[in-house]
Amino acid sequence: MSRLIIASNRLPVMINRSADGMTITPSAGGLATGLKSYHKDSNSVWIGWPGVMPETKKEEKEVIGLLETEQCLPVFLNEELITNYYDGFSNATLWPLFHYFAEFTEFNESYWESYSKVNEMFADAIIENAEEGDVVWVHDYQLLLLPNILRERRPDLTIGFFLHIPFPSYELIRILPWREQIVNGLLGADLIGFHTYDYARHFISSVKRLLGHDVDFNQIKLENRQVMIDVFPMGIDYEKFESHALEIQSKPIQDRSKEHQDIDRFLLSMPNRKLILSIDRLDYTKGIPQRLNAFREFLMKHPDYRERVSLIMLTVPSRTDVEQYQNLKNEIDVLVGNINGEFGTLNWNPVIYFYRSVPFNNLIELYSSADVALLTPLRDGMNLVAKEYIASKVNKKGVLILSEMAGASKELGEAISVNPNNIPDTADAIYRALTKPDKEMEKAITAMQQRIKRYDIHKWASEFMKALNKTIEKRSEHHAR
Ligand code: ADP
Ligand code: G6P
Repeated sequence: MSRLIIASNRLPVMINRSADGMTITPSAGGLATGLKSYHKDSNSVWIGWPGVMPETKKEEKEVIGLLETEQCLPVFLNEELITNYYDGFSNATLWPLFHYFAEFTEFNESYWESYSKVNEMFADAIIENAEEGDVVWVHDYQLLLLPNILRERRPDLTIGFFLHIPFPSYELIRILPWREQIVNGLLGADLIGFHTYDYARHFISSVKRLLGHDVDFNQIKLENRQVMIDVFPMGIDYEKFESHALEIQSKPIQDRSKEHQDIDRFLLSMPNRKLILSIDRLDYTKGIPQRLNAFREFLMKHPDYRERVSLIMLTVPSRTDVEQYQNLKNEIDVLVGNINGEFGTLNWNPVIYFYRSVPFNNLIELYSSADVALLTPLRDGMNLVAKEYIASKVNKKGVLILSEMAGASKELGEAISVNPNNIPDTADAIYRALTKPDKEMEKAITAMQQRIKRYDIHKWASEFMKALNKTIEKRSEHHAR
């Protein structure tokens, strides 16, 4: 029986060094939060970077021990690789370019060299652990070269690849000095998956224009094999969100855990106040300044809503060593301060802002209590937060405002859709959401719940694996001919 090896830069857990030794915490970001439910239930091993650099052999052993309990294996990166591969090529070259922020994209040979080196290191770690005929599932933009490295070194492996971010139009890819290597790197896979048809279409067009390969519908024809391209919109662990939300709802406040009581007291302290929620990593792709400006415009246009609505904004620190992220943090701090200074009163903060990760239970509590979720990325591969909000709305009272630039908007057609660059329109959307009749809310939430419940994380992973296994059958047919 072949085994599954998952490979991604970010593991589902992060290891941190503390005064008491190494500690383990869950990772944020859609790849880790989504895939971990599948990983837990499958007999897979997950290889990736644990987020810490051990300084001694003893520390290294400690990290390996902690990861073992999570079925994970580490690839350790030194400081230079973190700077050039992670902060550099991954997050200052590919991330901005693939999200249409060409002006933020840095081209640097040292970044590229480290990126190639780390992709080789991942291949070493996989090959060390892979038995004949195993299946390897590679994830995301940090490992675009890995499929082809594996293909050359271990042709017996079946290789799947899934991209969690947008694949941009050819006009963006063509500006990258290493564009052919990147596209060729991916073609080492047997199956390449994307969240949406648009991303798949952009990829196929780049393959044709950069490498000149023949394409037959969703099959790329190489000299001696084929690569399948398909669309798998990532889902969430629906049952987990729904059941936690039901549990919270069914317990009276005094029976709830301390964390819940704290949030409940906070929510109860604002009776008759509507709650708008936004949750994301602090990232320039998420459109956070635009969102704050839209909220400000809403308060200007609708003074009767002052003191009657608050925006709770949770942002998780992300990629804090990259300049653009530091600049954005400063911009957000100023904007939040300005809005609270301009409109706030002794009893009311218009924006309640947290710059940290929150525990899962609190997340659910906030999802289920929020009247509106305001999710306005400028570009987003999928946006799982939108699906998590819908799944947690067990009482069906809530409205989702979702950017049309998020992959999730393709599946969540009943949400109020906005172009996040259109500030007046987003301000109007907030008003429409707050005044939406209960019946309409219920109808929209029910339709979206049915859809994302059906295509949850388990369905997503099993559909991908099914399609990947089909490529094995095709390969044997090809060889038999
Ligand atoms: P991205 O992958 O770009 O970060 P997604 O919306 O797809 O965006 O996924 C974000 C994931 O991180 C979600 O599962 C969400 O629950 C989690 N997350 C985001 N912000 C926080 C936060 N402040 N605290 C805890 N988890 C968070
Ligand atoms: C997005 C990316 C993931 C990444 C996550 C968190 O979801 O698609 O690959 O893991 O953001 O970012 P980080 O840089 O902390 O891993």
